[in-house]
Amino acid sequence: MTDLTSSLSEGPNRAGNIGRQTTRVSVRGLSVGYELRGADADFLAVADATFDIRCSEIVCIVGPSGCGKSTVLGAVAGLVPYRAGTIEVDGKPIRGTGSDRAVVFQKASLLPWLTVQENVAYGLRTYGVKKRAAIQRAAEMLELVGLAQFATRYPYQLSGGMQQRTNLARALAADPNILLFDEPFASLDAQQRELLQGELLRIWSNTDKAGLFITHQIDEAVLLGNRVIVSTRGPASRICNAVEIDLPWPRSRETRLNPKFHNYVDQIWQLLEPQEA
Ligand SMILES: Nc1ncnc2c1ncn2[C@@H]1O[C@H](COP(=O)(O)OP(=O)(O)OP(=O)(O)O)[C@@H](O)[C@H]1O
Ligand SMILES: [Mg+2]
Repeated sequence: MTDLTSSLSEGPNRAGNIGRQTTRVSVRGLSVGYELRGADADFLAVADATFDIRCSEIVCIVGPSGCGKSTVLGAVAGLVPYRAGTIEVDGKPIRGTGSDRAVVFQKASLLPWLTVQENVAYGLRTYGVKKRAAIQRAAEMLELVGLAQFATRYPYQLSGGMQQRTNLARALAADPNILLFDEPFASLDAQQRELLQGELLRIWSNTDKAGLFITHQIDEAVLLGNRVIVSTRGPASRICNAVEIDLPWPRSRETRLNPKFHNYVDQIWQLLEPQEA
């Protein structure tokens, strides 16, 4: 296993656009249908989705509730089977789930009987990493997300934001090339959300990982994303637009003060509005 902290310091810099041209995730013509009991045909949730995520990029997806955002993320994670299309990670077709991809869901779902550090180490243990190495790695990840002092606490002793930091540390621990975020900050209050967005931007500022980030918050998508994909209302939801977010890196809270930031938020609102009505 490579060391994330060293790969963070030596890896391609998002701000410098180094390595940005290498495609990490390639989704082509993805269609996903769900079997519905008693129905003659599958329910087509997503039709013909095509997009790429390059090294060190975050691509955000926004769209109306039920338009298939989690379905696309689940397919890339290898959790949801797809009917047509291809999904490649680092040039190879995916076959189910893999340690090259980690998912951060809205709910932290930590194991209540384990400490914060043990929760982060747990996934590594299931990959066969020895206990001492797993604990050491967990300590590094907790340092990275600003939770080093809380390593011996139990999940019920944490705030929602701290639980979600633990969740992020757990996802980063196995050093996946791809991180898949399904509304990870949606249940946090505005202040916690801003703090976590800042943490994510800091971690991402110097990595060659690729991120897929689903959110209902358009400003969050503009702040975090290299590109924002706008999906149409389902069924058979399609990607109707992909907006390149040409805002300077590194980004931070101050990015919100850039007039271009508000133009992008408005532009994406307008793309969504006819659907939301
Ligand atoms: N297991 C399933 N079986 C049948 N239909 C499903 C299943 N999972 C999702 N769907 C349907 O697929 C469509 C897309 O669902 P999905 O959860 O991907 O939407 P979403 O965009 O993530 O919504 P939200 O913003 O509310 O999280 C919805 O119509 C949903 O009812
Ligand atoms: Mg969803």
